[in-house]
This record gives sequence, C-alpha cells and structure tokens, in this order.
Amino acid sequence: MLYLQGMEQLLKQIADYKNEIETFSATDAKEIEEFRIKWLGTKGLVKNLMGEMKNVANDKKKEAGQLLNEFKQYTEAKFESLKELTTDTPQLTTNIDLSLPGDSIPVGSRHPIILMRNRIISIYQRLGFAVAEGPEIEDDWHNFTALNLPPHHPARDMQDTFYVQQNPDWLLRTHTSNTQIREMEKGKLPIRVICPGRVYRNETVSARSHCFFHQVEGLYIDENVSFADLKQTLYFFVKEMYGKDVRVRFRPSYFPFTEPSAEMDVSCFICGGKGCRICKHSGWVEILGCGMVHPNVLENCKIDSNKYTGFAFGMGIERPAMLKYDINDIRLFSENDVRFLKQFTSAV
Ligand code: PHE
Repeated sequence: MLYLQGMEQLLKQIADYKNEIETFSATDAKEIEEFRIKWLGTKGLVKNLMGEMKNVANDKKKEAGQLLNEFKQYTEAKFESLKELTTDTPQLTTNIDLSLPGDSIPVGSRHPIILMRNRIISIYQRLGFAVAEGPEIEDDWHNFTALNLPPHHPARDMQDTFYVQQNPDWLLRTHTSNTQIREMEKGKLPIRVICPGRVYRNETVSARSHCFFHQVEGLYIDENVSFADLKQTLYFFVKEMYGKDVRVRFRPSYFPFTEPSAEMDVSCFICGGKGCRICKHSGWVEILGCGMVHPNVLENCKIDSNKYTGFAFGMGIERPAMLKYDINDIRLFSENDVRFLKQFTSAV
C-alpha cells in the first residue's frame, strides 16, 4: 500500500504507472482482461491510488483529485484502444493454415424418376387433380378382381405377377390401378385424382425393361364425364409436357377395366415426326393407355353406373424420363451409382 508523503510522490507514482501502461500491449482477449483487472478492477491499481486521497493534505486535495482523474481516464482510454486493436486484427492462437481448402459439403440431387414424376403431377394438379397413393403389396381384389379381371380371366396373363409366398391372395401390384379402386371404395364423389407409384412385373431385366418401374394413373368420376373430357385432359397434358407443336393420336386398344379403351401416341418430339431411332422410324411415340371406366368396375365399388361415368389413364414414368434426360439404360435408375445420380443436381 502506498503512503503519500506529498504531491511529488503522487506525481512520480502516476508517471511510473503511465509508463508501464503505455508500453503494455496485448495479443489476445485474455491479456486485455488481465489488464482490466489489474488496473481498472474493483481491487485494481487505479482504485487503490484513488484511495490514497485521504492521505493528501487538504490544500492539495483539489490538485491531486484532478491528477488522479486524468490518470484514470488515461488508463480507460488505453483499455478501449487495446480492445479495438484486437477486434480489428484478430490474432491466431492455434496453428491453423487458413490457406487450406475447406471440406466440401456434398449436395444431394433429386432422382430423375422423381423429377419426371413431379413434372407430371404438377401439370395435372393445375387441372384440379389431387394426388392419391396406394399400397405396393396389394390383395387380388384391388389389383385384379375389382378391375373387371375375375380369376382365370385371360388378361391376367398380360401382366406377369409376383405373388407373396405366405399368402397367395397377396401380390406386388402390377399397376397403380389398385389406387383407383381404393379411391372409389371411399364412396366420396366426384373423384379427380392422380396416383403415382412403383409397380412390379416379373419381366427379364434388360436395358429397356425392368421388374419394377413407376407409373402415374389418373381417374376422374362424375356425372356426365365423356370421352371428349378424357381427350381434352390428355391434350392439355401433352402440350404442357412436350410443347404446343406436338400432335396426338388415339388408337383403339383393350383393357379389361375400361370400355372403350385407347392408347395414346404423341408425334415424336425427338425428330418431329420424320422418323428416327427413338420412334422406330414410325414418327410416333406411345405414351399411355386410357379409356372410360368400365361399368362393372364402378359397380364393384358400389358406384351407380347409370348416374356416374368416368375416365382413367395410366402412363409409365421411366420412358419419358429416359427420353428427356437422354438415358439409354433403364437399369441405371436403380443401381444407386452416385456418378449417374449427381448429374441431376441442377436438373428440373
Ligand atoms: N393399368 C394399365 C397398365 O398398367 C394402364 C391403364 C390405366 C390403362 C388406366 C387404362 C386406364 O398398363
């Protein structure tokens, strides 16, 4: 503790302190905090020196007070400048090499099948279709019987089915039409849904076909729905999907669950209809099956077929995705090869 004999000693003490403070420099926040505690803390040297005022002769008190105040301001100013210096020029406390490149963060991408599915969905959504989904493991009723394919119907052979061993009534759905039945069974009319999903067929895997693939099915049931409504809906879809110059043709076809049935082709959007490898030189590419829902199907789902009519259509997703993204082997979709998948990071 300092005992002041007189003003001279006070002046000397302040000068010594100032000297120490002036030459002080800090390299990090810890040292600045140490400075604050040593000088400006509640038990710090500035406070300590102030406490010595009581020992100063009365007639010198005013002068001493001014000197001490000035010293305090000086110390505070130094403290502020120390803080500014370290925030402006941060000092390294560890051996980090800032020139090293950072760790790259891998960015995922949407699968091309999902990209195509989303495109298809968004077009039909603009026409007021809602999305409905159904199970991939299905019973015989929803995949076949309710769709006007009773047991032993020859058309069952059109789709080679995987059955579940434990229960012969269960199978992997061969088409998304099971979701049509499930929507109709809910008993709420009108119905306007699209049903995207994965389907399974016992086919040899090759570059062009696989034992599982994806479909989008559409269903519209209401009073007075006609084939003209079906055509107009599909027409809108094709124009949105492939552009306004693409032409459309319907060919008569057969599906047990629709009557009449048709297949729809679009003029080849690769060669413009002149004929190329993609359209097998016919100028046309087949894209979907469709038709008016068979009255038996409506009745199976307890819908009055005298009052209500409807249309349905179903299309694959793989083929349009292969054409759009120039993919030449269907197996690439399910091999999970990152080199293939990461090509779609910025695709839409
Ligand atoms: N379910 C048929 C198929 O998988 C497609 C289809 C759906 C056809 C709806 C007509 C109506 O091939």
